[in-house]
Amino acid sequence: MTENTLRAFVLKQLLRSLLSTGALHLVLVTLFALSLICDVSYCKKSRRRWKSGRLDVLTPVIAANTACATFPELSRPQTQLCEKFPDVTHSAIDGVQMAITECQYQFQKHRWNCSSLDTKSRTSFNNPILMKGFRETAFANAISSAGVVYHVARSCSLGNLLSCSCQTDMGKPRKKEVRQITQDSPNQQWIWAGCHDNAAFASAFAREFLDSKKSRASDLQSNVNTHNKKAGRLAVSKSMEIKCKCHGMSGSCELKTCWRAVPVLHTVGEQLRDRYQYATRVQYSNKHPGRMVTMYSDREKPPRRNLVYYDASPNYCDADEHLHVVGTAERVCNKSSTDMDWCGTLCCGRGYNTVLVTKTDRCNCRFHWCCYVVCETCTRKEWVTVCK
Ligand SMILES: *[C@@H]1O[C@H](CO)[C@@H](O)[C@H](O)[C@H]1NC(C)=O
Ligand SMILES: *[C@@H]1O[C@H](CO)[C@@H](O)[C@H](O)[C@H]1NC(C)=O
Repeated sequence: MTENTLRAFVLKQLLRSLLSTGALHLVLVTLFALSLICDVSYCKKSRRRWKSGRLDVLTPVIAANTACATFPELSRPQTQLCEKFPDVTHSAIDGVQMAITECQYQFQKHRWNCSSLDTKSRTSFNNPILMKGFRETAFANAISSAGVVYHVARSCSLGNLLSCSCQTDMGKPRKKEVRQITQDSPNQQWIWAGCHDNAAFASAFAREFLDSKKSRASDLQSNVNTHNKKAGRLAVSKSMEIKCKCHGMSGSCELKTCWRAVPVLHTVGEQLRDRYQYATRVQYSNKHPGRMVTMYSDREKPPRRNLVYYDASPNYCDADEHLHVVGTAERVCNKSSTDMDWCGTLCCGRGYNTVLVTKTDRCNCRFHWCCYVVCETCTRKEWVTVCK
């Protein structure tokens, strides 16, 4: 089935519904009325405006110099990219912010909880952890890169960016995807169309933005960073999901269109946290200079989608100014947890204090007609354990 078939289908549905309600008459009258109104100067002016191509008046575009100047942390190649694609860069930076939030969610129970990433600078490119070779470095680089792909791909297909829109060269759906589309109703008509999230453009941009050619040196650290950023991009582009939308009268699903969409960032975060757990330690090959191999075999390259690291992590127990690590003193821990926030683990054996804290919540919420909710704030005292 082609796009034309879809168009014909939609038109047929539309005409049927118009005729059945007598709305066609109304539409014709409205069109006639509009043509009369449009004789006044307003329409003429706006028509002229479109003709002269001064679209800037109608669609305000972010001015490159102002948008890029608000991010002084950007490197030179990044600033150049920003001047060329201010709106995409903006979206990319929003993606990095989302990635940091996701990192904090995934690591909330760990000693290193990703909170150091968004203190000093808004874009966090210069964080010392990112310049190391730890597992945490690997995760932070991968999730940032994934965040950029996620956010840019979404923004493209939502029509928010000038340089990209939906991805069109998607090829045919895979067998697995077809099975997923047809599993509920095998006889239903469907077409592979709609607006695919533009992961291709977003991946290319993320690569350019976070991993520009100039930063791709031949030392181990650069190799490892490049690998992990690519693993982050793949984590998004290899787990695209199928979305479908029904067409047809009043919710019936006579026909549906299906397309590929990027997964929510939580899904990607979880996947990358698994990969963090099973990250591959790498080194430079002795026999083949310049080649990155696993610790265990001089011939084995790490799998593309694995995270890689080359340095054992510090324990993150104590503060370390150089690494922006604050240590775990004062962190709330859980005496009965079996996770990383267990007091024994989180407090590094220093023990914990039990303190009474005051918590505020919204409570006694009432719904008012119509339509808002009013709540009170309640305070309660609660005993918590915090690391010494
Ligand atoms: C992360 O750790 C810092 C410093 O130890 C702490 O202030 C912050 O509340 C922690 N964040 C979470 C989500 O636990
Ligand atoms: C502590 O951990 C236990 C076991 O995982 C959990 O049931 C409990 O809700 C946790 N307590 C707090 C305050 O998070």
